[in-house]
Amino acid sequence: MGFIDSIKEQAKKDKKTIVLPESMDKRTYDAAEKILKEGIANIVIIGTPEEIAENGKGYDISGATIVDPFNDPNKQKYVDKFVELRAKKGMTPEAATEQMEKDYMYYACLMCKCGDADGVVSGACHSTGNTIRPALQLLKTKPGISSVSGFFLMEVPNCEFGEKGLFVFADCAVNTDFDSNKLAEIAALSAESFEAFVGAEAKVAMLSYSTMGSAKHDDVTKVADAVKIAHEKYPNIKLDGELQLDAALVSDVASLKAPNSEVAGHANTLVFPSLEAGNIGYKLVQRLAKANAYGPVLQGLSMPVNDLSRGCFADDIVGVVAMTAVQAQKMG
Ligand code: ACO
Repeated sequence: MGFIDSIKEQAKKDKKTIVLPESMDKRTYDAAEKILKEGIANIVIIGTPEEIAENGKGYDISGATIVDPFNDPNKQKYVDKFVELRAKKGMTPEAATEQMEKDYMYYACLMCKCGDADGVVSGACHSTGNTIRPALQLLKTKPGISSVSGFFLMEVPNCEFGEKGLFVFADCAVNTDFDSNKLAEIAALSAESFEAFVGAEAKVAMLSYSTMGSAKHDDVTKVADAVKIAHEKYPNIKLDGELQLDAALVSDVASLKAPNSEVAGHANTLVFPSLEAGNIGYKLVQRLAKANAYGPVLQGLSMPVNDLSRGCFADDIVGVVAMTAVQAQKMG
C-alpha cells in the first residue's frame, strides 16, 4: 500500500470533520465527492446557495454539511469568538462579520476554534500567506511552541534512502527568517511529524553546506548551534549535524565525513537551514525524482490547518484532507 492509501485507511478509522472553505473552486466539490464516497472524513463546505449551485453542479455532495456564511444560525457565536480572540488588535463585531463574509478561511478557523470542526484544508485558489494567516491569528501555536512551520512528506519512488523512500522535509513553506532556537524547534516538530505519519523512528539531519565543522561561516554556526540546542532540549530525538545532504543520506559518504554519527547515512527527516533551501529542495526532488510531495502540512498549530498548491488536482485535496484528519486524530 502506498503512503497516501495508508493515511486514508487511518483517517477512516475515526472520522473527523474537515472544512473546505473554497466553494468558489470546482476542485473542492470534486474532492468532497471523493472523500465522502471513500468515507475518509465528514466534510463541511462554506458557501452561499448561489456559489454551491454554480460551482458544485454535477457533483454529488449530498453527504456534506453546507454552511452559508450569510445565513448560519451559529454565526453570532463565531463573531463573538473572533472579537474575543482579537480584542487587543481592535477587532469589532462589524469588522469580524465583514472579514468572515469576505474570507471564508476566517469562518473555517472559527468553526474549529468553537469545536464545530476538527481541521481545515484550503489554498487551491489562495496564496500560502492568505491561507495560513487566519490560522496563525485565530488558532495560534500549540502550548510550548513558538512558531508554526511547514513540512512536505516526500515519497520518492525506487529509493534506497530514508524510510523506504519516505522523508519529511522542513521548513519548506512558512518561516522566512529563523535563528538557531527556531531551527531546533522545527527539528523537534519535524521528528514528531515523521513518526506520526510514517510510524518509524525519525533520524533528523540538520542540513548545511558543511559537515561537522568542515566549513566556517555564520550560516554554518547557526546550524551547529541549533544542533546543540536540540540535543539539550530534546535529548530523546535522534538528531545530528551540521551535515551536508550526501553525508546525511549515503552511508559511504557518512563513513568518511561523519563516521561517529548515528544519523549520518540514515537520515529520514531533513531540516533545511533556510526557507529558500527547503522550498527549492522539495521541488527539485518532486520534479527530478518524480516524487510525490504531500503538503505543505503545517506543524505546531493548535489545530490542523493545511495548505494546497494552487496547481493542485482534486486527488491532491483528497490526500491533504486525509492527512489533516489523521493530524486531528493525533491531537485528540
Ligand atoms: N508561527 C506562529 N505564528 C506566526 C508565524 C509563525 N511562523 N508567523 C507569523 N505568525 C503570527 C504573528 O505572530 C501574527 O500574530 P498576531 O496577528 O496575533 O500578532 C500573525 O501571525 C500575522 O503575522 P505577520 O507578522 O503580520 O505576518 P504575515 O501575515 O505578514 O506573514 C506568513 C505570515 C504568511 C506566514 C509569512 O511568513 C509568509 O508569507 N511566509 C512565506 C509563505 C510562502 O510564501 N511560502 C512559500 C510558498 S509555499 C509552497 O511553495 C508550497
